[in-house]
Amino acid sequence: MNNPRFWLVIPAAGIGQRMRADCPKQYLRIQGRYLLDITLSRLLDYGRFDGCMVALNPQDEYWPSTEASRDSRVSTCIGGRERADSVLAALLALGEKARREDWVLVHDVARPCLGREDLWRLMHALADHPTGGLLAAPVADTLKVVDRTTGSVVGTQDRSRLWRALTPQMFRYQALVAALQQAEASQQPVTDEASAIEMAGATPQVVEGRPDNIKITVPADLAMAEFVLGQLARTEGSD
Ligand code: C5P
Repeated sequence: MNNPRFWLVIPAAGIGQRMRADCPKQYLRIQGRYLLDITLSRLLDYGRFDGCMVALNPQDEYWPSTEASRDSRVSTCIGGRERADSVLAALLALGEKARREDWVLVHDVARPCLGREDLWRLMHALADHPTGGLLAAPVADTLKVVDRTTGSVVGTQDRSRLWRALTPQMFRYQALVAALQQAEASQQPVTDEASAIEMAGATPQVVEGRPDNIKITVPADLAMAEFVLGQLARTEGSD
């Protein structure tokens, strides 16, 4: 298809229980800015999107105080119970504007450290791919399978073929909607878009991304994110 459009979908309806913070983790701040604003501005400034849909929690009280809420490129919808429900809600909220073969990039709001080069490499590498794919990083640590009750090691995984799935994940609009609806109907747990696409029988491509595109999950991640953002600002600002 000629000139597919690009849409950005941000699932931001989580409450981030593992952070043990008094607000959802996307509203924690680094140098005075909400994580949500850092994440969104990096994508919107470095990518060229035809529109952006952010899925919010129905109880979200913070959104009106964000920079993103005053950005005319950004629309919002209400997310769902699980991440996949929020992504599907956002895709459907794009409605008629999105065409079947348009690309959708889905990016976790809790990943503020996306490198500009990674975003460009992903979009460039997949531009002519039939299915799409995701940023991912090869696993660096040895991986143990552990008995959850006793804590004893059951085995060691061969890590040579294992990659960590990051975001953005980039797929065709209609294929992603159908895959998520199919996964929902069959009650299959889906923790990223690629797994829904895989269940639908297609083969996503990985594009290697920076391992420091971290997802803020526990309190210690916040200091790490601040450090990574400082590094990115230095390298991205110098060319
Ligand atoms: O909780 P976790 O870090 O795995 O969430 C990943 C992303 O999915 C976050 O951006 C979070 O806001 C989003 N999410 C959502 N709707 C949910 C649960 C999580 O949009 N019901």
